[in-house]
Amino acid sequence: MANPPSLILLGLLALSFSLVLAVDQSTLQDFCVADPNGQVLVNGLVCKDPKLVEAEDFFFSGLHMAGNTSNQVGSKVSPVFAAQVPGLNTLGISLARIDIAPWGINPPHLHPRATEILTVLEGQIEVGFVTSNPENRFIRKLLQKSDVFVFPIGLIHYQKNVGGGYAVAIAALSSQNPGAITIASAVFGSNPNIPSKVLARAFQLEDNVVSYLQHKF
Ligand SMILES: *[C@@H]1O[C@H](CO)[C@@H](O)[C@H](O)[C@H]1NC(C)=O
Repeated sequence: MANPPSLILLGLLALSFSLVLAVDQSTLQDFCVADPNGQVLVNGLVCKDPKLVEAEDFFFSGLHMAGNTSNQVGSKVSPVFAAQVPGLNTLGISLARIDIAPWGINPPHLHPRATEILTVLEGQIEVGFVTSNPENRFIRKLLQKSDVFVFPIGLIHYQKNVGGGYAVAIAALSSQNPGAITIASAVFGSNPNIPSKVLARAFQLEDNVVSYLQHKF
C-alpha cells in the first residue's frame, strides 16, 4: 500500500521520465505515412491507409538546388520535414539543406524538438551554441568541408559563412518536425508585439531602441 512519501517519489519519477522523452515518440508500427486529407487533430499527422502507401511517400527530390540567400541574413534553409516527406511522420528524424552566402549567417535560433547534427558540404562555417548549465557558456568552432558538428536540443545556435565563397551544409534533426525559433524575430517581431516596456527592462534598453528593433522585425 503506497504511503504519501512514496506517492511523491512516484510522482517525481513519472515527472523525470516524461522529461527524458524530450524527443519524438517511438513508432508502434512500420510507418504512418501522413494523410494530406486527414481532418483529425493528433500529435503528429494522421496515417494514410498502409495499403495505399507508395514509394513517392518516402521520397523527396530537390536538395541539389541552392536556396535563395538574397535576404537580410544571407542564408536559406530548405527543409525536408514531414511536411515535405509524408513518410517521415512518426519516425523522429528529418533533414535540411542550409545555404549561406559569403559572410551571411543562419541567425541565432533553437529547435524546440530536435538535436541537430550538421555536415559541411562546401565552404568554411563558424558555428556556435550557448549552454544552459553552466549558464550561458558560449561554445564555438570553425568547420571545414566535411566536418560535422552537433547542436544539442533546445540550445541557441548559429552558423556563419566565414570563407570567401558560398557555404552549403546538410543538417539532420531528431524530429519529423523540429521547429525553429529565431531569437531576434521571436523577441522583437512577435505578433502582436511583446510590450516594449517588458523588452526595455529585459534587455536594459531605452524604449525608443526597443521600438526601433520592433520596427525592424
Ligand atoms: C531571390 O530572392 C530575392 C528577394 O526575395 C528575389 O528578388 C529574387 O528574384 C530571388 N531570386 C531567385 C533566383 O529566385
